[in-house]
Amino acid sequence: MARAKKVVLAYSGGVDTSVCIPYLKEEWGVQEVIALAADLGQGEELGPIKAKALKAGAARCLVEDRKESFVKDYAFPAIQANALYENRYPLSTALARPLIAKLLVEAAAKYGADAVAHGCTGKGNDQVRFDVSIMALDPHLKVLAPAREWGMSREETIAYGEKFGITAPVKKSYPYSIDCNLLGRSIEAGPLEDPMTEPDEEVYAITRAIFATPDEPEYVEIGFERGIPVTINDEALDSVTLISRLNELGGKHGVGRIDMVENRVVGIKSREIYETPGLLLLIQAHRDLETLTLTADVTSYKRGIEHTYSNLVYGGLWYSPLKGALDAFIAQTQERVSGTVRIKLFKGNGTIVGRKSANSLYAPDLATYGVDDKFDHKAAEGFIYIWGLPTKVWSQIRV
Ligand code: ARG
Repeated sequence: MARAKKVVLAYSGGVDTSVCIPYLKEEWGVQEVIALAADLGQGEELGPIKAKALKAGAARCLVEDRKESFVKDYAFPAIQANALYENRYPLSTALARPLIAKLLVEAAAKYGADAVAHGCTGKGNDQVRFDVSIMALDPHLKVLAPAREWGMSREETIAYGEKFGITAPVKKSYPYSIDCNLLGRSIEAGPLEDPMTEPDEEVYAITRAIFATPDEPEYVEIGFERGIPVTINDEALDSVTLISRLNELGGKHGVGRIDMVENRVVGIKSREIYETPGLLLLIQAHRDLETLTLTADVTSYKRGIEHTYSNLVYGGLWYSPLKGALDAFIAQTQERVSGTVRIKLFKGNGTIVGRKSANSLYAPDLATYGVDDKFDHKAAEGFIYIWGLPTKVWSQIRV
């Protein structure tokens, strides 16, 4: 029996998702495959993708430009959450998945499909993110994952595709697996599978090697309003332009390369290379502005929330109830996170060298060591007596 009649497939134009089209039809009896390509700023022409999908046997190919929503509804909240998985990875790939899942669910409803599909294998995080996001948005919708079940090697997949006119990737010598969008690039596999092997320069596409970066530093000021980045050097920019501009600026100075071994949801450790200049600069700047505008207890409590938030997003739980509750907490904290952060870009570093805010809690008359000092020094004595009292009593009876 056919697994589904009409399927909306998340389509990237790559070999795996292309092979999914004939596979769904031939092996799983699907009558109609609708390919859906999301333009999230991967910088590829989406025209050829459409032709490719149709050639592979799709009944139609939907191309959805959702760059703006991607930045506003997915990246900006993650910036407000200072989200870094395992303290390093700014989730550039992970953030795209819940949006693509939403597009699949919407298209399935619109075109009366009885299932959606994706080309993820069974070893990665992305399958988890797609499946869980889809079940959260429509618990009744079937999800098909042919590449998780077909058991074909890379060579076999290419050979299968060739039978249906799907041409193998031109650059067979480029052994990496890449995921790319407006927020950055993720690179894995090939020689990178050895965690001790230094990535070749050829893996990078949006950041310069340090030897090729300018010999003069460049300063950039990012303006935030309620935790949302809105200006660069006082120029108001729309969300997509803002992140693109920061990718260029950061990339030019070699900022935003990450080389890490990370823990996948499925229990595997994997070696990943990322280049995410804009997103990383925004998170660093935003977190810095919070140090000026949030109280100590909110900051400290929020850091714990951020850790949980990052794990949820990494693990595909974007649409989960806990994530929703954390969103509410984070939104509340952002009310006064407005101001400007000054960053010095130089030789791979984005160093924060200044910050200011109309809501600054930094009180010069309390902080100063000069004559204007308004801090009541005598009050410190009583405070310390009480602050240290439990420890003092503890030590007294121990003797
Ligand atoms: N490990 C990263 C993540 O789970 C990136 C995965 C990127 N996928 C790829 N085909 N390179 O978010």
